[in-house]
Amino acid sequence: MTHRIGYLVGSLSQDSINRVLSKALVRLAPDDLELVEIPIRDLPLYNRDDENDPVAAVKEFKDAVDAADGILLISPEYNRSIPAALKNAIDWGSRPWGHNSFARKPTGIIGASPGAIGTAVMQSNLRSVLSFLNAPQLNAPEAYITFKPEVFGADGEVKNDPTEKFLAHYMSEYAAFVDRVLSVTAPGHIGDSD
Ligand SMILES: Cc1cc2nc3c(=O)[nH]c(=O)nc-3n(C[C@H](O)[C@H](O)[C@H](O)COP(=O)(O)O)c2cc1C
Repeated sequence: MTHRIGYLVGSLSQDSINRVLSKALVRLAPDDLELVEIPIRDLPLYNRDDENDPVAAVKEFKDAVDAADGILLISPEYNRSIPAALKNAIDWGSRPWGHNSFARKPTGIIGASPGAIGTAVMQSNLRSVLSFLNAPQLNAPEAYITFKPEVFGADGEVKNDPTEKFLAHYMSEYAAFVDRVLSVTAPGHIGDSD
């Protein structure tokens, strides 16, 4: 069974290394995952006053998250935390109260940085946010990518065998996790409360 996965890139940069990483992940994903980007670039800053009648970009964003079987977050680390653009998107998706689009969505978190710890602190922060939003998370493998320009082609080609194998393994573990979560949380399953 094919699962439709929405992926969010936490960087707005044209030259984003995390966008390059996203291309690699799309290439290496198993056939039963269909990966579609959910753009966050045009979202306004979250404002509670606009929750009930938001601009089109917000509606489209929430619809896309709602329609996805799972969400993959591919993000840089900014000042040891979540980039504002990504947190802003998550805040929109979480509201209005009672319409949290991330609830029960199987999520994966991965990120690239030129630094040695490869977004580990951002990922830890993001896990707290997703836990609060009741989004099940792939716990292992963790994926902290130290980005080396010589390893990644702009089109997502991975030129280093162990890195390519690791990323393919990550995506196949994420696919298995999505399958497991959906098998117990699909709509109509006994115990479903909303
Ligand atoms: C505001 C800002 C804060 C940053 N903070 C961190 C950080 O905490 N940890 C880190 O590894 N890199 C940090 N960096 C460097 C980023 O990892 C690097 O710019 C990376 O290319 C960003 O990802 P992107 O190319 O996908 O936008 C920071 C960069 C910026 C612009």
